[in-house]
Amino acid sequence: MAHPLITEFENAGQGQVFQYWDQLSGPEKKTLLRQAGEIDLAQISRLNHALLRADAGVDSRDYSDLNPAPYIAHPSNGGDPDAWKEATAMGEAALRAGRVAAFVVAGGQGTRLGFDKPKGFFPVTPIRQKSLFQVFAEKIKAAEVHYRSRLPWFIMTSPFNHADTMAFFHEHDFFGLSEERVRFFRQGRMPAVGFNGQILLSGKGRIAMNPDGHGGSLPALVRSGATRLMAENGIDLLSYFQVDNPLCKVIDPAFIGFHILGGADMSSKMIPKAYAEEKMGVFCLQSGKVVVIEYSDLPADLMHAKDDLGNLRFQSGSIAIHLLSLEFIEKMGAADPSSPGLPFHRAQKKIPALDADGNVCLPNSPNGVKYERFVFDALPFSKESVVLETRRASEFSPVKNRQGLDSPGTSAEAQMKEFASWLEGAGEIVAKTDNGVPLYPIEVSPLFGYDEATFLQKWKSLAKKPDLNQSLYLS
Ligand code: UD1
Repeated sequence: MAHPLITEFENAGQGQVFQYWDQLSGPEKKTLLRQAGEIDLAQISRLNHALLRADAGVDSRDYSDLNPAPYIAHPSNGGDPDAWKEATAMGEAALRAGRVAAFVVAGGQGTRLGFDKPKGFFPVTPIRQKSLFQVFAEKIKAAEVHYRSRLPWFIMTSPFNHADTMAFFHEHDFFGLSEERVRFFRQGRMPAVGFNGQILLSGKGRIAMNPDGHGGSLPALVRSGATRLMAENGIDLLSYFQVDNPLCKVIDPAFIGFHILGGADMSSKMIPKAYAEEKMGVFCLQSGKVVVIEYSDLPADLMHAKDDLGNLRFQSGSIAIHLLSLEFIEKMGAADPSSPGLPFHRAQKKIPALDADGNVCLPNSPNGVKYERFVFDALPFSKESVVLETRRASEFSPVKNRQGLDSPGTSAEAQMKEFASWLEGAGEIVAKTDNGVPLYPIEVSPLFGYDEATFLQKWKSLAKKPDLNQSLYLS
């Protein structure tokens, strides 16, 4: 008699998953059954029905009531310096009280960068070539010292990079952090399907599975026990960031303060987009709620629309930095049916899969879709939602592509420019090229200064200032 799971797949029209069953060894059969057991067939059927129509790639949402989302302006752009001071003090108090934990989503596959290891291992700093994970770890360590507080760090991996990520931290002694305060957990995964809705195989005994998107972080935070741990330790705020941006202020008191003062469940940081087609999600207001419309979904006329002053009307680009309150994560990530849950999106991909002869092949054009959830789809469920402006130069220079925009080269330059501006803020003169890049490489370890204020404090305390006319690493 067939295994009940095989019958279930056959009844759901997914019997092809087990077409090579008779050729598999005992352990291979076990693996396949384990993978198949993770799949919610009713969910796949619903998603296929809703998202696989020929026109489903074309966003059919109604954007007639879309408006730009209001945001709190940065003091350098007309924001109220007193309000920022008040928020900063409020955030610092929350940090000293141990209410905050850091959280990085590091489960993505980083295919665009062409790096075959987890993206957090990527060397990014201009001189020491520190990895992204080391940069974040040192920022957290520095904040712990500065606020005399414990800052637990949650790291979401995927089933594909979990073991490697943990090994990397062990190999580097957790970059000086206390091991028990760094917690790793895996996000969920989803099967890839062909355009006919059939689940694809990546081997005769293997289903083509993918991470379920960073929106999977909310259920994974609950499922893994991270939220329970937060509650037990008096932590009610989570500082969320992506693994690709070394300039990110992993911990930002002003942001924390505005989130608390605004009574928000989920808050976000924005920068004005550099140009209309920049590949960033855009903060909008829809039916009175803050939403992010992903760049690939924003209709061209709205993307290019200008306001009376000639600026982009939808200019608020998302740098994917959020604050989330514990209660909100628990609500959004709960497994019970009362949780609103996040919608899935489809992404057309070239998925390595078995051909009709049972050989694995990487197609030249997309052969199916991956289903993913996006964390920013939680925003409209937030009772209040603060959008805070930040400066691109000091907070956003991700490493996404091998070359050109958002690449290791542009990010290293942006880091050096930022460090140079801190030195200039201290009254120093930094020699630069015509493009404003420091002539001599500069790198400031987060342990020396992780933002302009902490840098200034340390710089002023130096009895003897280093020579700025040579490569400079401050640690
Ligand atoms: C993302 C945002 C975009 C934003 C931009 C800013 C999405 C869909 N878009 O674009 O709105 O303006 O960043 O840089 O997110 N990840 C997981 N698990 C997954 C998938 C991704 O942990 O299953 C993590 C990645 O490791 C990475 C982050 O999510 O840290 C972003 O993923 P990526 O797919 O690279 O998003 P972008 O297209 O760069």
